[in-house]
Amino acid sequence: MIALGERLAALLPPRALVFLQGDLGAGKTTLVKGIAKGLGAAMPEEVSSPTFTLIHEYGDPVRMYHIDLYRLDSPRQLATLGLDEIFEREAVVVVEWPEKFARWLPREHLTVKISAADTRTITVESTHESLTTD
Ligand SMILES: Nc1ncnc2c1ncn2[C@@H]1O[C@H](COP(=O)(O)OP(=O)(O)O)[C@@H](O)[C@H]1O
Ligand SMILES: [Mg+2]
Repeated sequence: MIALGERLAALLPPRALVFLQGDLGAGKTTLVKGIAKGLGAAMPEEVSSPTFTLIHEYGDPVRMYHIDLYRLDSPRQLATLGLDEIFEREAVVVVEWPEKFARWLPREHLTVKISAADTRTITVESTHESLTTD
């Protein structure tokens, strides 16, 4: 997952929104460690789950935001996070559990779906033509 995150980071524009979907333990946060490494924003061991803090930022200047919506219950709580301002920044923004608030999040994004059974299957889909790559 870390190696894949690094490869993904190399394909991302400086401003990008990446949704990560997958069950608990699928490897979402581990993928973020690789993205942070690939962006040169942080080393994998410096990246921890923002489950309780909700938003972590990495790099100086900040090049990556890691957001976890798992513990949020309502759109009202979501609104207090100030995400709109973050989405406008020149940074890669990675969001875990975006499906909980799909209606309130930007339509243009890249989605990485991780399904972890015996082996992991990772699917990458983009709503941006410009981000689509073979
Ligand atoms: N490809 C993988 N192979 C084996 N273990 C993995 C892999 N990806 C993640 N893990 C492990 O699975 C656990 C949960 O991963 P995590 O990235 O926190 O999942 P999530 O954020 O989706 O809940 C961690 O202990 C992590 O080290
Ligand atoms: Mg996680």
